[in-house]
Amino acid sequence: MLDSNYFYYTDKRLNCDEVRLEELASTFGTPLYVTSSKSLVDSYNAFEHAFRALPHFTCYSVKANFNLSVIRAFAELGCGCDVNSGGELYRALQAGVAPDKIIFAGVGKKHEEIMYSLKCGVFMLKAESISELRSIDRIAGELGKIASVALRINPNVTAETHPYITTGGSKEKFGIDEAEIPEVFALLGQLPNLRLIGLDMHIGSQIFDPEYYVAATVKLLALFNLSKTLGFAVEFLDIGGGFPVTYDPLKPATLIERFAEKLVPMLQPAGVTVIFEPGRYLVANASVLLTKILYKKRNHAGKEFLVVDAGMTELIRPALYQSHHEVQAVSRHDKTVVADVVGPICESSDFFARHREIDAVEEGELLAVMSCGAYASVMSSNYNGRLRPAEVMVNGSEVKLVRKRESYEQLILNELL
Ligand code: LLP
Repeated sequence: MLDSNYFYYTDKRLNCDEVRLEELASTFGTPLYVTSSKSLVDSYNAFEHAFRALPHFTCYSVKANFNLSVIRAFAELGCGCDVNSGGELYRALQAGVAPDKIIFAGVGKKHEEIMYSLKCGVFMLKAESISELRSIDRIAGELGKIASVALRINPNVTAETHPYITTGGSKEKFGIDEAEIPEVFALLGQLPNLRLIGLDMHIGSQIFDPEYYVAATVKLLALFNLSKTLGFAVEFLDIGGGFPVTYDPLKPATLIERFAEKLVPMLQPAGVTVIFEPGRYLVANASVLLTKILYKKRNHAGKEFLVVDAGMTELIRPALYQSHHEVQAVSRHDKTVVADVVGPICESSDFFARHREIDAVEEGELLAVMSCGAYASVMSSNYNGRLRPAEVMVNGSEVKLVRKRESYEQLILNELL
């Protein structure tokens, strides 16, 4: 069971802050994403505290959870944003983030997106190839602007995590090959509409071992020193995101302080501002996905299934990355059963938990799928004609609807007969 200050039992009933999850289900229906806004604030403060000795600027990676209210919660704390598309940029702006606090990343930015970001004056664009640098230079020239850019390097460090979310190795599409960087420095002299202000990396996500960051930072610092000898005035070193959270209490994540202990002394002497782009760390454990048990059934082999009203359309992580999410009964029972918790989608990969010991819940009761703040709602889909759930945010005893449930009309809104 994932114990937290934000989701906890009183009288055998699960609460979010001071609100019973049962109450939220009866008011807003299920499936429902429930976010504790205190948890967002506390995670951000914990991150800031860990890196307090370093001049830094934290940019929340909105891809983890792009709900406008979530983005705004961080913006109100002074946090910037890391966006990966024109759509995320639009969301950040709509949430009230100042353009000069937004960094624009992405391995395949379209020309329209580059144009959009330059027009609204983002803080910097992170370029991932020579061709992209040429495009940014040309578009900036057309607009009569000088674009502030960072070079995303691929440090050739393969961090141990799920293979789909490691990004810093030589097999991956991300970043400019470290060996190519000297050539890029030479090229920058011929691109008059660019100003190199940063060097950047992002080696992956849910990385438990700080040593991977150390290895990649060594490479980044070497290139920083080279940039100085060549006369560039690089002011920002961007370390990326990827800091881990606990999904499974049996596999607790490395504390953020362990990363800070290694990185702060390495980066301090550079005398630059360090940028961090945490996504998951700030949001993963702030939300649960609340779902109702529709049916219980048992097969000839004695296997027990709990069929619930949420599925891989609302949380694809178990199907895509075999990831573990705790599943907790909203009303506790003294007895337990071993069951598969499965959704209504017509795919065998549509499950939240397999062969899991769980409270002996009945049909009609509620389950909370834990740690659904990151990469859950943002990766949701309309597959099988599913309606995206509502989202609520809880602060103490206050509850705010921050996303309405989709309707059938919205499902066909863009289609023409
Ligand atoms: N910066 C860049 C350039 C990124 O690509 C990412 C995540 C982040 C920052 C934030 O990483 P975080 O701190 O959240 O680990 N869907 C996967 C995770 C994909 C991560 C993609 N990039 C999952 O559910 O595990």
